Amino acid sequence: MTMAVASVVVRLVPLTFLFLTIVAAAAPATGTAHFLGISYGTLGDDLPAPHRALELARSAGAAAVRFYDSNATLLAAAAASGLGFVPGVPNELLISLAASQRAADAWVASTLLPFRRNPRLRYLFVGNEVLSDPTAKSRWSRLVPAMANLRRALRRYGMRRVKVSTTLGMDALVGQNVFPPSAGEFRADIVDVAVRPLLAFLERTGSYLFVDTYTYFTWSANHTIVPLTYALLEPSPAPGYQYHDPATGLSYTNLLDHMLDAVVAAMCRAGHCGVRLALAETGWPNAGDLDQFGANVRNAATYNRNVARHLASGAGTPRRPGMRMPAFVFALFNEDLKGGPGTERHWGLFYPNASAVYEVDLAGRRPAASYPPLPPATNDLPYPGKLWCVVRTDRRGEIANETAVKEQVAAACADEAALCDPVRPGGECHLPDTMAAHASYVFSAHWNRFSKQYGGWCYFRGLAVETTVDPSHGSCIFPSVIPG
Ligand SMILES: *[C@@H]1O[C@H](CO)[C@@H](O)[C@H](O)[C@H]1NC(C)=O
Ligand SMILES: *[C@@H]1O[C@H](CO)[C@@H](O)[C@H](O)[C@H]1NC(C)=O
Ligand SMILES: *[C@@H]1O[C@H](CO)[C@@H](O)[C@H](O)[C@H]1NC(C)=O
Ligand SMILES: *[C@@H]1O[C@H](CO)[C@@H](O)[C@H](O)[C@H]1NC(C)=O
Repeated sequence: MTMAVASVVVRLVPLTFLFLTIVAAAAPATGTAHFLGISYGTLGDDLPAPHRALELARSAGAAAVRFYDSNATLLAAAAASGLGFVPGVPNELLISLAASQRAADAWVASTLLPFRRNPRLRYLFVGNEVLSDPTAKSRWSRLVPAMANLRRALRRYGMRRVKVSTTLGMDALVGQNVFPPSAGEFRADIVDVAVRPLLAFLERTGSYLFVDTYTYFTWSANHTIVPLTYALLEPSPAPGYQYHDPATGLSYTNLLDHMLDAVVAAMCRAGHCGVRLALAETGWPNAGDLDQFGANVRNAATYNRNVARHLASGAGTPRRPGMRMPAFVFALFNEDLKGGPGTERHWGLFYPNASAVYEVDLAGRRPAASYPPLPPATNDLPYPGKLWCVVRTDRRGEIANETAVKEQVAAACADEAALCDPVRPGGECHLPDTMAAHASYVFSAHWNRFSKQYGGWCYFRGLAVETTVDPSHGSCIFPSVIPG
């Protein structure tokens, strides 16, 4: 996460009522609300108009929509739709909102006052994955003060029902480790400065810790050991896979409960066992790059349908049986303007043209057998060969924007100058001396070098594409990536 890859700066997903006193690890099952909503991200070209988007959310059975900012048009449309809605406070505002009660009052007055009497405004997310961003550490200690100021402002304006929270990525845990769940522990660099104050605030105000939990990432990092069925919440073939946590004696039948219990363990270890847990994001990509095995429509539909049914059942997790919680699936649309690997642009239940990628009932009531058949999964195993990353060209072999490609090549060479030696005069790959040939070499070399690190994707602002065809020629050998 800390590597400065100038060519691709993007957040990887690569990714949320009323009790005050809760003792011990088991949160009370009664009185807490369950619903499954959907994240309404807007980083796409030609997305449907807000009223249409909200109709689509409702048609998928969503009870609420979650936003990443507080766009007045979108909030007004959501408030009128009858769905629950969750505004977001952008990370950039945290420092000023923490510094001044007046700033927090003004933000609430200008943004939320029109919805003062709307009972479907129940949560406010202050910042998004703030503790995942090591380039903005100055915000970490300001998170809870900003939340506290906003909470006071909400009360001042008669909105005490609105619970103030924030979202954490699973990278809040040491090494993102969830094996076994009881080993879950918050990172040392955030635990004192932000996590303990956050948990104390949430406990005191009866709010929830909202986490972004993707079994897809944990499974794909460990697919040789963790069965896909476990990550998809599917019944596994007999004799049935279960994960046993030796420290607690608890058995797990799915990776979502397993990961949530790792967060519970981390909260307990930090001295705040009583905080309620909720899901700000979960989901599964419906497509991705050649190296992103398991990203397909069949798995995405299976996962989201199973999650909807599991959460609606109220079963809870082994560590918190009966736990019910607010939760949001990511995301409403495939968002084509997001950077990073191909999966980033394919989390949606809908294409931008409003047709469904697959059917799902987020209310969790529709029986599995009533859905139409899904396309077969063709990429559940890693691509069994080498891959290269080349510049995207049109049918005539021309690149769309030479200036942009030049910039991406320069950025890649700045990450590690020696990567680009072969295309310099006298190098093995200098000829043919064209922008396209040089860019393809540099993209492949950069991907090969950084593919195991955050930011090391075959993307380059959408100017690159993965290929199974070796572009090497003569003594010019293109570096490759072996998936899995
Ligand atoms: C708010 O969202 C609307 C509808 O998507 C969009 O047209 C508008 O530009 C957005 N406003 C801001 C300030 O981002
Ligand atoms: C993979 O799973 C095993 C247990 O099934 C666990 O011990 C190991 O730590 C996991 N590895 C990663 C990278 O998560
Ligand atoms: C919508 O877009 C998807 C993906 O590009 C495409 O497969 C589908 O045919 C489109 N549907 C309509 C009705 O245009
Ligand atoms: C080409 O890329 C440059 C640099 O990223 C950008 O400023 C320019 O608008 C692009 N041109 C076109 C036609 O897209």
